[in-house]
Amino acid sequence: MAPYIAEAPSAEIVVPVKADLEKSATKPKIRRVIDEEGGKTTASYPNYLPTWDYGEKYPELEPFTHVDHGKDADSSLKDLLTEGSKIQKLTPTIGSEVTGVQLSKLTPEGKDQLALLVAQRKVVAFRDQDLADLPIQEALDFGGYFGRHHIHPTSGSPEGFPEVHLVHRNNNAWEFDNYLAAKNSSVSWHSDVTYEAQPPGTTFLYILDTPEVGGDTAFVNQVEAYNRLSPAVKERLHGLKAVHSGVEQADFSLQRGGVVRREPVKNEHPLVRTHPVTGEKALFVNAGFTRSIVGLKKEESDALLSFLLAHIGRGIDFQARVRWAPKTVVVWDNRVTAHSAIIDWATGERRHLARITPQAERPFETPYTPTEDESPSWIPAI
Ligand SMILES: [Fe+2]
Repeated sequence: MAPYIAEAPSAEIVVPVKADLEKSATKPKIRRVIDEEGGKTTASYPNYLPTWDYGEKYPELEPFTHVDHGKDADSSLKDLLTEGSKIQKLTPTIGSEVTGVQLSKLTPEGKDQLALLVAQRKVVAFRDQDLADLPIQEALDFGGYFGRHHIHPTSGSPEGFPEVHLVHRNNNAWEFDNYLAAKNSSVSWHSDVTYEAQPPGTTFLYILDTPEVGGDTAFVNQVEAYNRLSPAVKERLHGLKAVHSGVEQADFSLQRGGVVRREPVKNEHPLVRTHPVTGEKALFVNAGFTRSIVGLKKEESDALLSFLLAHIGRGIDFQARVRWAPKTVVVWDNRVTAHSAIIDWATGERRHLARITPQAERPFETPYTPTEDESPSWIPAI
């Protein structure tokens, strides 16, 4: 395995443990974490505890036309950042934090402006939200405005709601030691499910239970990662495509006795993609799923990917770290960011989140023009 390839699944994906399944002579049709916790739980949102339905199988995804609502947005953001709200930047180029806005109550105009704001700031944390308290179907109806719901091929979901991707870790000391036994760090940069033909765009992750300290999520600005490259390298990257693969994630799930709801796919995407709303260009490679560069020999492909992934991973000057708090919803644009969970607590506290993952357009690129290097990096005003 080439050195740049991270563990196949992201650190955010939880799959069943094989040993648990082997205790039972017959494979359970549905595995439920609530059963494993003895039928009662300390989880704040038991309705969101993961289940895996072994009978659930889906056909391959069909292409669809994505209409990005950010294109329709009033750039004043007046229907989103209404009176009494407050927005603060986390860093100059990536990340903002908003208070005084209730996402679930937004008008269509407000939702359009949300898509635009998130495209501009890359990741935005909204505090004091009610999304987790709504019936799950209402949360899905809200997220469905932004694109077709993605159903993850291997992750747990609330029973009856496969469109919700769950992140769940009961971090007892044994599990923490085990996790880091073969790794120096839990950092695992990835953009979500980029192996799909139409990977996600505006993506929602909301907290259900969080450690008091620890379990933050880090984000990297892939537009700024692109902007930092020299004109010569930028020009060379244009026209190249990379292979993104879901095969390793599916294999990992099967090895651990987990589910594969849909046959894994590989897709080729441009190395530099253009955002349909902002027109910004972003590096579109990630350690989780990008395997090789089309048309290059293996050593060349490995060397170029290693350089790009190291550049992205060490760019703390174009990264942001979001600290979770109860009732926080984090929204990011998966087209122009990568992220990593940070597994750094061993207190036994539960970390439990739900993701709503609207898919977006098939990644596309626009040609390199020398004029794009004549002005400094674009930093959004908001
Ligand atoms: Fe992720």
